[in-house]
Amino acid sequence: MSITKQRFVIIGGSSGMGLALAKKVVQAGGEVVLCGRSSSKLEAAVSTLAELGGVASYQAFDASVSQDVINAFIAIGTYDHLVVTAADLTFAPLAQLNTNDIQRMLNSKFWGPVNAAKYGLNLINRKGSVTFFSGLAAYRPAVGTTIVAALNAGLEGFAMALALEVKPLRVNVISPGVVDTPTWSFLSDEERVGLFDDVAKGLPVGHVGRAEDLAGAALSVVENPFINATVLHVDGGGRVA
Ligand SMILES: NC(=O)c1ccc[n+]([C@@H]2O[C@H](COP(=O)([O-])OP(=O)(O)OC[C@H]3O[C@@H](n4cnc5c(N)ncnc54)[C@H](OP(=O)(O)O)[C@@H]3O)[C@@H](O)[C@H]2O)c1
Repeated sequence: MSITKQRFVIIGGSSGMGLALAKKVVQAGGEVVLCGRSSSKLEAAVSTLAELGGVASYQAFDASVSQDVINAFIAIGTYDHLVVTAADLTFAPLAQLNTNDIQRMLNSKFWGPVNAAKYGLNLINRKGSVTFFSGLAAYRPAVGTTIVAALNAGLEGFAMALALEVKPLRVNVISPGVVDTPTWSFLSDEERVGLFDDVAKGLPVGHVGRAEDLAGAALSVVENPFINATVLHVDGGGRVA
């Protein structure tokens, strides 16, 4: 399936893997609607895509607020592919997380996909696709990832069941390993480089991922009409290391 002239809604498209995917889509002649909470981040991302000659617009909303999700999808209208990369996560032991931290994590990575699937699929092309992003912590948990691991694992279960309910629309999940994106900007430069070096040493491929690697993987899933109800692991071999 060619993505030329295909219209993508990317919730989480203002940053990291979502933005990298948006770049690939517009470079291939597709159109993107970027979604996220921060209008300024979305405006900056749309400007970047415009510089590439891309057709891009945005809708700003918190994906956990159902009425805002409903309104956004009414404004968006018909489209072909939904991708949800949204995440606002804290990595800390459960004992150090308060209820607000946990709720914020659920808002992005549980309610984001659930609300998008519940309220965002009325006007999607039934020959299109839905792609969610989970993560390696579901398979290789570490201290500080209880909620992250639960959300990743839960999202994969959600997606598999959803694929049955919305057929023939395809529903897939990409499970990234550690990827160099702004999600790690809570660390200092030194801490980030140290983390990436440590992770790289433990990976068969010897390096962490780039946002472009994950964007390419997502596109391969979107473009292949026979990939459905699948979790694609794009983790440098982290699951078996
Ligand atoms: N990077 C990694 O190492 C890694 C590893 C494993 C899994 N993953 C998963 O891969 C996906 C993409 O990660 P990334 O690193 O590309 O993320 P990122 O750069 O941190 O971008 C996250 C995006 O989600 C949006 N967002 C967050 N909360 C939202 C909410 N409540 N409603 C709407 N939008 C929201 C953010 O925009 P606003 O802040 O403006 O809302 C931003 O556009 C995530 O699901 C992440 O958990 C990442």
